[in-house]
Amino acid sequence: MTLSVIDYHERTKHHPHRYARSLGYLDWANQPDPFRRYHEAPELPLPRPLDPNRTPLNAIYRGVPGPARAVTDESISALLFYSLALSAWKALGTDRWALRCNPSSGNLHPTEAYLIGAPRGLGTDRPSLFHYAPQAHALERLHGWDDGFSADWVRTLSSSLLVALTSIPWRESWKYGERAFRYCQLDLGHAVASLAFAAALEGWAVQLISTVSDDTIATLTGVASQSGPEAEQPDCLLAVTPPVEGSAAALRCVEPVRWPAAANHRYLPNQLSGAHHPWPIIDQVVNAAAKPTTEPFPAEPLPPAFSVPASLTTRSAGDLLRTRRSAVAMDRETGLTASQLYRILALTLPAADNRLWQVFPWSPRVHLLLYLHRIDGLPPGLYFFARRQGALELAQQQFRDRPKFEKPDGCPGELPLYCLEQGDCQELAGAVSCGQDIAADGAFAVSMLAEFESPLARFGPWFYRYLHWEAGAIGQVLYIEAEAAGVRGTGIGCYFDDAIHRILGLSDRTFHCLYNFTVGGPIADQRIQTLPAYPS
Ligand SMILES: Cc1cc2nc3c(=O)[nH]c(=O)nc-3n(C[C@H](O)[C@H](O)[C@H](O)COP(=O)(O)O)c2cc1C
Repeated sequence: MTLSVIDYHERTKHHPHRYARSLGYLDWANQPDPFRRYHEAPELPLPRPLDPNRTPLNAIYRGVPGPARAVTDESISALLFYSLALSAWKALGTDRWALRCNPSSGNLHPTEAYLIGAPRGLGTDRPSLFHYAPQAHALERLHGWDDGFSADWVRTLSSSLLVALTSIPWRESWKYGERAFRYCQLDLGHAVASLAFAAALEGWAVQLISTVSDDTIATLTGVASQSGPEAEQPDCLLAVTPPVEGSAAALRCVEPVRWPAAANHRYLPNQLSGAHHPWPIIDQVVNAAAKPTTEPFPAEPLPPAFSVPASLTTRSAGDLLRTRRSAVAMDRETGLTASQLYRILALTLPAADNRLWQVFPWSPRVHLLLYLHRIDGLPPGLYFFARRQGALELAQQQFRDRPKFEKPDGCPGELPLYCLEQGDCQELAGAVSCGQDIAADGAFAVSMLAEFESPLARFGPWFYRYLHWEAGAIGQVLYIEAEAAGVRGTGIGCYFDDAIHRILGLSDRTFHCLYNFTVGGPIADQRIQTLPAYPS
């Protein structure tokens, strides 16, 4: 019998008495190399940005004033330096591990990035394919197209860029077994949002080209020739362009009528592990969620702009993007004000003046169940935040055990936040997050509830991945905004799926939880040393 994405999702739920299948121990001898390299590919070191970027935080949502920067080795370097580059090395005793600007479940980093373009300063004027090597902050040149690109496209690619992202599920399944595919997708969403934020610093807009098939992405990046347990799976193609009025116009600039021929390069990827444990269900869900060529998403009206309370941070956007970290423990003390919470929530909304959400050309399907613990001005309790018009009514029909939806006192009218029940829910938030105290001890925790079965039926099983990308991108906003508010966030992929559904009395798959998150005052682990990301 063929496995559907829904079968996969059901089978990989964690339950308090039964976790999703994994090895149950860490096979250290075969720990995957977190850095993919292509043997013998020419390496082009990127010039490290000399001056810290001083762009204020709001610009990553609203756009920086002035013309977009030209696409050159320097601006590409900055794009990657503030999104997917290493941000620090950590050391404990003899152990050393790298952290990156983008977070990753278990710090395993399944996401790989490829660039397609003809940027100045990289020694070629042909449209070329590059792989990003974060450890060296360098590009590996894999292929140059002599033909197959129309003259229009060559011109377009001199002022724009395509970024393709892929995932290596083995990096995640090595530790997390069958649930790994979910984590790859959440990480991908974080990476997309990281790129969009960093692109905004250069004055560029990022948009996901949703019509393209996985096969096209695989041939364009050359990963179609990979096979075996370490093979990369094609995920998404992003257009990085100077801002163009209207999203369809931006895509017309970069989406050719016919994609060029495959990048049949001769470079071999490094081997990541000596031996592998097979996880056949991952191969099956990769097939079940594969994306064919599709029509564009139907245009849906955006919610009106909400006047977002200003951030009080004096730190620049670039600083926040490079120093973002996950909290490993929360202090059970630090809170946020209601106004700080409203800002964070408002920035998760795809309003017209919020560039981040122009990345995803579909109307949002992921909403927030909030566990408010320490918010000055709002009583502790369970709250619902609807990110799409119409989702409130759906929630009112479905949340059988939480039928009251009350607008909190003082909450701005246009912010779709509703109190479901007042009361202490610290224990509950921790319990449903696989018993992790970080969810109980922060200022607030979140369960991201996706409209599940209906969009999968409407768009296709591949939309299962897109839902996770949306959730991951929300997580990235929470991470950056937590830093700006002087606290810290942590993504929580380990949660008890159905226990969360039971809080609300959900009895079917109209809504399903895809991701948890926590925000609060961090406690640092003093034993761990922080070292620079790159030698100076
Ligand atoms: C999708 C996802 C799931 C995560 N799940 C957990 C979790 O369940 N518990 C936890 O303590 N940290 C979790 N994390 C945090 C990661 O462990 C962290 O991002 C990683 O160690 C890298 O550290 P950094 O975020 O400071 O760069 C998760 C992160 C992501 C992106």
